[in-house]
Amino acid sequence: MSYPYQINSFEAYKEVYARSVQQPQNFWADIASNFKWRRKWDKVLEWDFNNYKTEWFKGAKLNITENCLDRHLEKLGNKPAIIWEPNSPDEHHRILTYNDLYQKVTQFANVLKNNGVKKGDTICLYMGMIPELAIAVLACARIGAIHSVIFGGFSAKSIADRLVNANAKYIITCDGAFRGGKDIPLKSLIDDALESVDFIEKVIVCTRTRTPVSMLKGRDVWWEDEIKKVETLGMAPAVAEEMDAEDPLFILYTSGSTGKPKGVVHACAGYMVYTNYTFVNVFNYKQGDVYFCTADIGWITGHSYIVYGPLSAGATTVMFEGIPTYPDAGRFWDLVDKHRVNILYTAPTAIRSLMSYGDEPLKGKDLSTLKVLGSVGEPINEEAWHWFHEKIGRGKCPIVDTWWQTENGGILISNLAGVTPAKPSWATLPLPGVQPCLMDEKGNEVEGPGQGNLCMKFPWPSIIRTTWGDHERCQQTYFDAYPGHYFTGDGAMRDEDGNYKITGRVDDVLNVSGHRIGTAEVENAINLHAGVVESAVVGYPHDIKGQGIYAFVIYNGTHNADDENLIRKDITATVSRIIGPISKPDKIQFVTGLPKTRSGKIMRRILRKIAENDVDNLGDTSALLNGEVVEDIKKGKI
Ligand code: WTA
Repeated sequence: MSYPYQINSFEAYKEVYARSVQQPQNFWADIASNFKWRRKWDKVLEWDFNNYKTEWFKGAKLNITENCLDRHLEKLGNKPAIIWEPNSPDEHHRILTYNDLYQKVTQFANVLKNNGVKKGDTICLYMGMIPELAIAVLACARIGAIHSVIFGGFSAKSIADRLVNANAKYIITCDGAFRGGKDIPLKSLIDDALESVDFIEKVIVCTRTRTPVSMLKGRDVWWEDEIKKVETLGMAPAVAEEMDAEDPLFILYTSGSTGKPKGVVHACAGYMVYTNYTFVNVFNYKQGDVYFCTADIGWITGHSYIVYGPLSAGATTVMFEGIPTYPDAGRFWDLVDKHRVNILYTAPTAIRSLMSYGDEPLKGKDLSTLKVLGSVGEPINEEAWHWFHEKIGRGKCPIVDTWWQTENGGILISNLAGVTPAKPSWATLPLPGVQPCLMDEKGNEVEGPGQGNLCMKFPWPSIIRTTWGDHERCQQTYFDAYPGHYFTGDGAMRDEDGNYKITGRVDDVLNVSGHRIGTAEVENAINLHAGVVESAVVGYPHDIKGQGIYAFVIYNGTHNADDENLIRKDITATVSRIIGPISKPDKIQFVTGLPKTRSGKIMRRILRKIAENDVDNLGDTSALLNGEVVEDIKKGKI
């Protein structure tokens, strides 16, 4: 495959960028013309940020899997599409060529059909990082079922909430998942979730850990048995369903500052074009490169840059089941060495964690194949950037600092590897087609160098289409703060060259190890503990995780009241049960009151300062109803 839309020099970037602003429709039509369409679009773009609606490539018909699979078979059929590395280095890796992947996806698509799944149905995937997850994702897309992948770190209750919100009648899961030394009982968590959900028709269970699982007659079936049925029936490879450009491709739940997680909806055509375009340009992907993204498919990075982006570009994508520190902190480097990885895309939290092990895990690992490094998910601090650059990139590899969000579908601001300049800890310039701006507190646009809230003035093809089942919420969350603009929830700085540096969330969303966590959600979970009266959750700087979760809790329970540590453990267990282990507080401080304004709102600014150990700069506390609690909270700081 060649990529006529690949940008090769800084000069070209500037030209292309200018064109993308002046003639956005032509710009995107040219890129889109490189894909396989059943029917071309009538109109490239229709949009309205005031009464939110965005439609890209209206009237076009396609199936994303024909672009990820079918169109590659003739020339790239025998090329590895997925190289899968298991959790344990003692187990063999697997290679699926494009031919293999096509065969498995079209076969599993038949399994879905045989089990009653139809175009437009929502289907929940709760699996570990095994090739069958990628196969299941693509099989859903093949038949036009809308997948909703749930990360393995969420609890049964979180799963149930998502099943109900999406009205998903089908589930694909595994007996269990290996992650480092752990075996996560996925099917058993699904069973717990299904105690409160009664509309599930089929649960397809794929074997991985062979942990004993309960299998309910009529509802639960084994993946492998279903495959055998399809083989016995001699079914032909499932033909791709013809999808409308704007048909939903998937739902992915993400946390915001209020309420329960919302289901971000992405549409078929725009998402396909944008993930491919950004994959090829940001990483400067060349045919033959081996590309390794360390994310989990349970998050947007895995959707866009393990599955859809690389596969639509005919790339070889490495998928890793395990964690960076198992069996030791040299595992990523073993993988790079073993699979001759050229492009490595990972997260600052992983870099900081591996950095803390020193040089030992790097000894004897051949990293010479690496050409490009990438970072995503949170701001990368300079120390981590330089370590990544020197130790992993041997001073030779460009690092792309890619800024984007679940709602964006793909990378919006980043340098292009080896093409546009990098600036440590800066995401740098917007991709052509992306029009960011900064807004001040009064809602006016900041011109030139400055700081403000990061917004977008113009849509890009993979912008969120709606929040599942609640379009009003989409409008309110992203488009009401700055009329006529998409608001990201992030703050940013801009230098005189137009480079952006993301300073972090300006709302009540935390970024813990690159995972998005809503403080309100954690508070609600803590408040469900029997002895808790009220709580407030804020973030604080954490050396490895970027941010840690700090909870201030008013407790009036009696049980074990003389042992605060035991209560802390109970509260933590409660959060784990309600949301999942990923949202466990790192610190819990018991307090007698929370600082409140006269209207009864918790003043988080003060709690944040205390959690950050910046107690001398609490600012004006005169508006507080109960100023006296602040001193007590300061004294009790942990
Ligand atoms: C943060 C992950 C700084 C940001 C793809 C954003 C970043 C949130 C970067 C989205 C980066 C992501 N530099 N911050 N390169 N990339 N973020 O939805 O706060 O899981 O709003 O998407 O992560 O997280 P999400």
